Amino acid sequence: MARLEGKVALITGAASGIGLETARLCAAEGAAVVLADIQDGAGAYAASQIVDSGKRAMFLHVDVADEFSWSAAIAATAEAFGRLDVLVNNAGMVIAGDITELSLADWRRQQAVNLDGVFLGIKHALPLMRKGGGGSIVNISSTAAIVGTTNLVSYSAAKGGVRALTKSVALQCAAAKDNIRCNSVHPGIIRTPIYDTLEGMPQHGPEGNNSKFIGRDPEALGALVTPLGIAGTPYDVAAGILYLASDESRYVTGTELIIDGGLVAR
Ligand SMILES: NC(=O)c1ccc[n+]([C@@H]2O[C@H](COP(=O)([O-])OP(=O)(O)OC[C@H]3O[C@@H](n4cnc5c(N)ncnc54)[C@H](O)[C@@H]3O)[C@@H](O)[C@H]2O)c1
Repeated sequence: MARLEGKVALITGAASGIGLETARLCAAEGAAVVLADIQDGAGAYAASQIVDSGKRAMFLHVDVADEFSWSAAIAATAEAFGRLDVLVNNAGMVIAGDITELSLADWRRQQAVNLDGVFLGIKHALPLMRKGGGGSIVNISSTAAIVGTTNLVSYSAAKGGVRALTKSVALQCAAAKDNIRCNSVHPGIIRTPIYDTLEGMPQHGPEGNNSKFIGRDPEALGALVTPLGIAGTPYDVAAGILYLASDESRYVTGTELIIDGGLVAR
């Protein structure tokens, strides 16, 4: 039997990278999937591809930093599929920069998407999940929540917040006996389009346009800093998310699943 048969999963940041792979995998494992993102074209296309493969899916425009966007998304999910079993808070972006040069506005923008977005998602999804009798929340944090980074101070702070928020939500849900688990996933260097959209980092290396700055090149970065010597793929992370989303992890809550090729074991 498929591992998410009969379940409904909402995945944020599902138009690209880890979220897109997770949406495809959850659908392949029997879930009806809601793909939520601010990239309407790519998100709608991804949902239509899943529907074409004979699975249930829909795209919703959701800005995770916007509370109204969340209440509308949960209402639309309830209307379309009647329940919500899995919430994957995956949407994220990166603003790099030295702390003395980082503006307060950029600091707040980073927290708004990467931390407020997770808070709002959980806040608005919990009532529908509880109505259905339980579920699983998977928050995508980062190895940057566990070890320091030299140039990602605001990103690390936001992801550290996600890590701590996850554990407190897990305990609140356990105390409420609502059959809802909450865990975090901590990817290391994963080959996704996020490296093309990093803010506050040079576009190119010193040799010019043909030389990609290493901070923007997951393959080079993976080879340099990861004990396994390679970058991970979106599937490497999606497979871990699927485990936490499924009933196979029924006894797992408040934990952190590190998927990083050994990065933080150093
Ligand atoms: N790729 C890595 O190496 C890596 C490592 C650690 C953690 N992560 C985390 O994994 C998650 C997914 O990242 P990815 O690498 O797949 O990147 P990605 O850029 O491929 O995907 C991120 C998605 O989030 C969406 N998004 C951004 N802001 C949003 C908002 N306000 N509302 C809704 N959607 C929004 C983007 O449109 C995009 O589709 C992020 O939280 C990221 O921080 C990635």
